[in-house]
Amino acid sequence: MGRETWGSRIGFILAAAGSAIGLGNVWKFPYKAGESGGAAFVLVYLLCIAFVGLSIMIAEIIMGRSTQLDMVGGFRKLSPGSPWFLAGALGIASGFVILSYYSVVGGWTLAYICKAAAFRFAAFHDPAEAGASFERFTAHPVLPVACHALFMALCMYIVARGVRGGIERWNNILMPALFLLLLALLVRGLTLPGAGEGLAFFLRPDFSKFHWGRTTLVALGHAFFSLSLGMGAMFTYGSYLSPDVNVPRASFYIVLLDTAISMLAGVAIFTAVFAMGLRPDAGPGLVFHTLPVVFTLMPGGYVFGVVFFVLLALAALTSAISLLEVVCAYFVDERRWPRRTAVLRMGTLILLLGVPAALSFGPLAGAKIFFGRTFFDFEDVLSSNYMLPFGGLLLSIFVGWVWGADRAVEACRIGNPRFRSARLWAFAIRYLAPLAVAAIILHQLEILPRVGALLAGGG
Ligand code: PFF
Repeated sequence: MGRETWGSRIGFILAAAGSAIGLGNVWKFPYKAGESGGAAFVLVYLLCIAFVGLSIMIAEIIMGRSTQLDMVGGFRKLSPGSPWFLAGALGIASGFVILSYYSVVGGWTLAYICKAAAFRFAAFHDPAEAGASFERFTAHPVLPVACHALFMALCMYIVARGVRGGIERWNNILMPALFLLLLALLVRGLTLPGAGEGLAFFLRPDFSKFHWGRTTLVALGHAFFSLSLGMGAMFTYGSYLSPDVNVPRASFYIVLLDTAISMLAGVAIFTAVFAMGLRPDAGPGLVFHTLPVVFTLMPGGYVFGVVFFVLLALAALTSAISLLEVVCAYFVDERRWPRRTAVLRMGTLILLLGVPAALSFGPLAGAKIFFGRTFFDFEDVLSSNYMLPFGGLLLSIFVGWVWGADRAVEACRIGNPRFRSARLWAFAIRYLAPLAVAAIILHQLEILPRVGALLAGGG
C-alpha cells in the first residue's frame, strides 16, 4: 500500500494550523505573557516568530516533503551513514515528553466542558472561588488522571483512522469554528468596563520588568512550542504533501493563523482579567480561573462557556494528534508496524508517562525532585526551553549546511518556481536562525554570560 497523502492543499494548511493552534495559544501564551511583563514579552515573541519561526517552519516542511518519510528516516535519507538521524530521534523523544503533559491539560479542558454544562460556573461570583475550585480539581488524586486518559483515548482514536479520514477531516471542521468563537469572546472582553487596562498591559511594552536573557529564552521557546517546531510535527505533516504545493506560502499562512489566534486570545483574556481586577501572573491556572467568571457575567454565558471549553478541548486535540502522529510515523515508516499497533502501543506508553504529570498538582505537588520542579513543570521547561529549540537548531544547521541551502531552495521551487525570498530564506536558515537559537540556549546554560565576564575581566 502506498504512503498516505493529504486530500487537498487547504486540508494540509488547516491540519498544520490545527497542530500549531492549541493550548499553546489560548492557555499558555496569555499566562507566559502575564508572568513575563505583558507587551514586552509579546514584542520579543513576535520578533522570534518573524526571524526564526517562519524560516524553520519552511525548512521543516520542505525536508518532510522532499523525503516523504518520518523524521528519523528523513535525516537518514538525506545524510546516509551519518549520526544526523539522532536529530530525528530527539524530535520523537520530544513528542513523548510534550504529549504526556499536554494531554493532562487537554484532560482539564474535558472536565471543564462538563462543569460548564452542569451549570457549575453559575456558582462562581468571583475569580477566587473559580480559582479555588480549579485547584481542588487539579489536586484530586483520581479525576485529572481519568480525564488525561480520556483525552489520550480520543487522540488515539483519531490518529488510528489515518491522515485523511482522521486528522484532515477533523481539522477542516474544528479550526474555522474556533476562530469564530474567539472573535465573539474578544468582542465580549473589549466591551467589559475596565478593559482598557488589560489592553495596555498586553500591547504597551514596559521594559522595566524585562530580563533580556530569560524573557528571550521563554519567548523563543514558546515560539517553537506554539508553531509546533523543533520536533518534527511540521516535518511529518509535510511528508504527506504532494509536490505541487507552494511551501513558503503555506508556511506563511500557518504562522499568520497561529499568531493571529494568540493575539486574539491574549486580548480576549487580558481585557477580562483586568476588568475583573485579577492578577495577570496567575500562571497555568489563568484561563481556568478567569473565563468561567466571564461566562457568568455575559448574556448567553452558559452556551458560550460550554462551547468555549469544547473548542479549547478540540484545539488541544488537533495539536495532540500531531504529537502522536510524529511518534507513530516513525514506527509505521521505519519499523513497518501497522498504524493501529503503533497508535495503541505508543499512545498507552505516553498515557502512563502522563500520570505523574497529572498528579503534579495534588499527591505529587511536593515531589520537586526534578531540579526543584514538579514532574509537570519539569516536562514543560525541558521540552519548551531546551528540546524544541535544540531540535530547531539542529534542523536549521542540517538544512543550511549539510543538506545545503541551495538544494533546499531548489526543493522549494518545486511548487513555487519563483520563490522570490529564496536568498533571504537561505540567509536566515544558514546564519540567523542557528545563531539566534544557539546564543539563547548558551545564555540559558549560563555559558555566554560567563564568557562575557571572562572577556571583560581579561580586557
Ligand atoms: N503547537 C501546539 C500548541 O500551541 O498548543 C503544541 C505543540 C503541538 C507543540 C505539536 C509541538 C508539536 F509538535
